[in-house]
Amino acid sequence: VMSNPLRPALLAAARSERVKGAVLKAPVTRSIVRRFVAGETLDDAMAAAAALLAAGRSVSIDYLGEDTFDVGEARATVVAYLALIAELGRLPQAGVDGVHPLEVSVKLSALGQGLPADGDKIALDHARTICSAAQTHGVWVTVDAEDHTRTDSTLSIVGSLRADFPWLGAVVQAYLRRTEGDCRDLAGAGSRIRLCKGAYSEPESVAYQSRAEVDASYMRCLATLMRGDGYPMVATHDPTIIGSVDELLRETGRNVDGFEHQMLFGIRELEQKRLVDAGRRVRVYVPYGSQWYGYFMRRLAERPSNLWFFMRSAATR
Ligand code: FDA
Repeated sequence: VMSNPLRPALLAAARSERVKGAVLKAPVTRSIVRRFVAGETLDDAMAAAAALLAAGRSVSIDYLGEDTFDVGEARATVVAYLALIAELGRLPQAGVDGVHPLEVSVKLSALGQGLPADGDKIALDHARTICSAAQTHGVWVTVDAEDHTRTDSTLSIVGSLRADFPWLGAVVQAYLRRTEGDCRDLAGAGSRIRLCKGAYSEPESVAYQSRAEVDASYMRCLATLMRGDGYPMVATHDPTIIGSVDELLRETGRNVDGFEHQMLFGIRELEQKRLVDAGRRVRVYVPYGSQWYGYFMRRLAERPSNLWFFMRSAATR
């Protein structure tokens, strides 16, 4: 998390329209973006999903977009999700009993959460529309975690929706100081909680800053979820954390069908395969759509080598 000194600058750039213009213009951008993003169209997403399903993995598909301040744009996002869910519903994996291999991930800020008037209510209504379509088509939904100013609103919207859609998943971020407590509150029967480290730039007052502190918090949160009665979704590429899962399974007596690993599209592909071969459930987060800028910049910020690869390719063009 903190091992990359350029991380704060990259995360600031992820929110800058000026840098966005430059990155979008760089001729090399597209080929590198394709490493992390399935493509711009629904067909691209479905092709990526088909390949992953054939390789024994589950998917969570994300229609890229965030921070909408336009209600028309938020409605268009809902329409895109309905098309995606209908398409997933045609696959043989739709509605499989128990754990659904097909899921979509949704950002409430793309559904209008940030609108000045009634943002929470609009996002809740939009998410409800998406959840009922998902229920009809045998697809699951998980609500992504965004920056800390939205955590309370997001968890409360998820709480309201879970009254009607008890299978709805939520994401918590180990870098936030509050998250250990959230994990205790959310570890109850039936809850699906995706634990990740966290991908935004957050102040010291609310978030651990050093890699060691974030990793230690992740381990405490993971132990809480594994000892609880819900369905933990272990979203990390970190080999040390993934390795620690064995010990937690022994300690808690939790079955390999009682949790899943999750990784991002294009990252540690061989490890995804290794875990599937070892009998683990693995779900891959597959982003698609034209609004890839923020997502792409967060991936560059995570790993200096991704950034150097990008700069070197751009410079040698
Ligand atoms: P960390 O960044 O410490 O990396 C550990 C190791 O993984 C690295 O040493 C490297 O080997 C490999 N690796 C990690 N990132 C890589 C990259 N970009 N390219 C190549 N290799 C890489 N965040 C959030 O704030 N809200 C959310 O809703 C979600 N949702 C989500 C879903 C899923 C399924 C995953 C896997 C992740 C998220 N995240 C997220 C992102 C998460 O918070 C975090 O930023 C990334 O997963 C990277 O952190 P790691 O846990 O992988 O560890």
